[in-house]
Amino acid sequence: MSLIDTARKVRENAYAPYSRFKVGAAVRASSGTVYGGCNVENVAYPEGTCAEAGAIAAMVAGGDAEIAEIAVIADSPKPISPCGGCRQKIAEFAKGDVKVTLTTVDGVTMQTTVAELLPGVFDADYMSRV
Ligand code: THU
Repeated sequence: MSLIDTARKVRENAYAPYSRFKVGAAVRASSGTVYGGCNVENVAYPEGTCAEAGAIAAMVAGGDAEIAEIAVIADSPKPISPCGGCRQKIAEFAKGDVKVTLTTVDGVTMQTTVAELLPGVFDADYMSRV
């Protein structure tokens, strides 16, 4: 199954009763293992989590810590755009040249990279004097 197929499948399990906007994400770790995640909302709205965060949490729980590729899918008029917080979460585990596939359920797809998603990323280098 391709990365986007995994993201498409886990999207079906998204818990999004408030926004009704289901999102699926899948990461392929450097080990080759694929991890999926979906958004999980909460009646206390800020407690909801994004699909990307779910996939990353599954990856870390599975013992992986390096993203080799990531895909995100939603039912949007144009390819889904990961939120700012998720861009930072992805950057924690992915090098800048890692391929990011953003797509709609209809198959409108955009390819980008982690560096393009988050120019000027805050990374550990900024804390090197601590
Ligand atoms: N959402 C994601 O899961 N990933 C994104 O990249 C954008 C937004 C979710 C959060 C919330 O559950 C819903 O989409 C509407 O914002």
